[in-house]
Amino acid sequence: MTTLYTGIGQLVTNDPAQGDGTELGVLTDAAVVVDSGRIAWAGPADRAPDADRRVDCEGDAVVPGFVDSHAHLVFAGHRAEEFAARASGRSYTAGGIRTTVAATRAADDETLAAGVTGLATEMLAAGITTFECKSGYGLTVDDERRALEIAARSTPETTYLGAHVVPAEFADRRDDYVELVRGPMLDACAPHARWVDVFCESGAFDADESRAVLTAGRDRGLGVRVHAGQLGEGDGVRLAVELDAAAVDHCTFLSDADVEALAGSSTVATLLPGVEFSTRTPWADGRRLLDAGARIALATDCNPGSSFTSSIGFCIALAVRHMGLSPAEALHAATAGGAAALRRTDVGAIVPGARADLVRLAAPSYVHLAYRPGVPLVREVVAGGARYTVGRRPAPVPEGTA
Ligand code: NIG
Ligand code: FE
Repeated sequence: MTTLYTGIGQLVTNDPAQGDGTELGVLTDAAVVVDSGRIAWAGPADRAPDADRRVDCEGDAVVPGFVDSHAHLVFAGHRAEEFAARASGRSYTAGGIRTTVAATRAADDETLAAGVTGLATEMLAAGITTFECKSGYGLTVDDERRALEIAARSTPETTYLGAHVVPAEFADRRDDYVELVRGPMLDACAPHARWVDVFCESGAFDADESRAVLTAGRDRGLGVRVHAGQLGEGDGVRLAVELDAAAVDHCTFLSDADVEALAGSSTVATLLPGVEFSTRTPWADGRRLLDAGARIALATDCNPGSSFTSSIGFCIALAVRHMGLSPAEALHAATAGGAAALRRTDVGAIVPGARADLVRLAAPSYVHLAYRPGVPLVREVVAGGARYTVGRRPAPVPEGTA
């Protein structure tokens, strides 16, 4: 069964060989053919091949499904009071993570699984068709393993984050905790994880501890990703580059040497504007990274402490307003950038052979993602070829207005 999506007023392919010659590869009056969950063809509507079924997109813009390369979805409870306290002037520290660890340990599997499913549904409604999901709120062998088992029911992009913080019971023997994370906990978690991650930051793990955990994970066949530069400059970015991490995430505080190292590497710098919003910290400088030649991604970091949003559209709008990105750069970072941060070549672009992941916007242009912040613009999502109708169309803009 093939489906022709036609009447696409503006199609963002992320294929520079298409359309306007930019990295977004934008076509107007375009069509896409989907066959068995894959893109079979994309191009000008008047050259589209026949298909078994036809969907008229009525002039709407269509963009690639968003790729959210950073999320922490396996947890119980919430931290609304902590958010409110920050809004009254208290600063963010990594310590709040332990509140969620206590609630997560106390929760049963069904509760945790229902939380993941609920957030995955929110993400799909936001147009996210690929997402990564970390452990890191269990911090015991069993709780980390079960977090990854639960996450793996919803995504193949599972990340072992036993080194999120040192749990309270190991406070005065942190070396023992690092040995646990790189030994028995890794043994239990590696079968359920694709990636290993460490929060390399003062208040969490230093460079030596982080290296020990990351190399142990790498030796077990896991890909490397790192949290760094969230609370201050440190060694995490250079460590990530040294280990050829797929991504180093946050990058709010970067030295010139960090930026230079990223630019000369294949490690993607992932920006998480929901964190800066929620923790009232300075905005990461996306412009500086792009101008230096570094590759960037944009992700939600959906988690109950520092960024409790599943709205990638909100993150795009923040990145345009506060991180120096154009709407085109922000969209590219949230699609192709996320795919690069997960080292995936089958998602993040509308090209033949890719997974059929499409987002139809209730708007004539992708620019509306930033131009109309907070408005639910996702009208329909196609994920692996399956169609989901999401929202009703927002009020039409009268034709003829400037
Ligand atoms: O990505 N930085 C560390 N981990 C999360 C925060 C988790 C939390 O506050 O619960 C992050 O921001
Ligand atoms: Fe995170």
